[in-house]
Amino acid sequence: MGVVGVLTAGGDCPGLNAVIRGVVCRAEERGWDVVGIKDGWEGLMHDRTVALDRESVRGILGRGGTILGTSRMDPYVHGEGLATCAPTLSRNGIDKVIVVGGDGTLRSAMRLGEEGLGVVGVPKTIDNDIAGTDITFGFATAVQIATDAIDRLATTAEAHNRVIVVEVMGRTKGWIATYAGIAGGADFVLAPEYDYDIDDVVETIRSRHRSGHRYSIVVVGEGVKPPEGYGTDPIRKDAFGFERLGGVAYQVAASIEDHTNFETRVSVLGHIQRGGTPVASDRVLATRLGVSAADFAVDGMTNVMAAVQGTEIVAIPLATACEEVKSVPESLYNTARTFFG
Ligand code: F6P
Repeated sequence: MGVVGVLTAGGDCPGLNAVIRGVVCRAEERGWDVVGIKDGWEGLMHDRTVALDRESVRGILGRGGTILGTSRMDPYVHGEGLATCAPTLSRNGIDKVIVVGGDGTLRSAMRLGEEGLGVVGVPKTIDNDIAGTDITFGFATAVQIATDAIDRLATTAEAHNRVIVVEVMGRTKGWIATYAGIAGGADFVLAPEYDYDIDDVVETIRSRHRSGHRYSIVVVGEGVKPPEGYGTDPIRKDAFGFERLGGVAYQVAASIEDHTNFETRVSVLGHIQRGGTPVASDRVLATRLGVSAADFAVDGMTNVMAAVQGTEIVAIPLATACEEVKSVPESLYNTARTFFG
């Protein structure tokens, strides 16, 4: 019997509430109490907590956002690591903390683990770029939203004989771009991992239009570099020190229009990809991860992350997840490339 804390940190992600529900119900089933830590690391640093039980997580499975709130605060950037969190832990009698977060959050969890805190990580991001796990929850929902958008943009692009450049999230990795590009039948996909030549993009679009097609859809991952000569916006950073992205599609579109004279428009999907209800597969995945994380914590594991490997959820060292940011494999990008034009 013990007390497990749970927090959600970093950008929100469809499925967070399903994870919280999974943690609470499994921990309770195994005789542990659960303390919800509000607003990510901020709540752990400033003792903002709430008791959670099966009753308090009823009805949240399909809800977007996170009932606990989140922030981009960090115990090592905005505090002194474990020393800053220790008062909250002892006041609430917390033995273990389940940390639901992306790469920045998991790295801080690992450091707290190295300082002696019992931590279990749950990988969270729509970007699907966390190492050691086959997939992250929220990704399927983001891809579905982006695909629906591409389907809609294609009909208006066709009606007006236009090129539409659709920008999707994903930071330095092109998972959403590549998946949504394949699912939406994009005529070109620019993924940050793969350098592109704007002349290729232009030639692909020209030859498509020469062969009688009235429109083109180009999907751009937000982390791609702008085409040469089309400038770079000043770098803005978030509280984790990550570059804030968004808007490169305007430079790609300007370049396409200048080279082709085809009327070109831009749609930056932004936070729409993170909002709203998770699709069914994300609800199931998030629930399984929450349940497994509770089991790992109760079973005495620490400095591990619940990861998807094949059809199983397994415990892997947090360090493995923090080793690298996972790229789109070339074989997958080449699948998208097969349908360019
Ligand atoms: O990591 C998830 C993500 O949605 C990225 O795809 C995106 O670049 C970033 O978060 C946006 O962060 P914020 O919500 O702080 O603008």
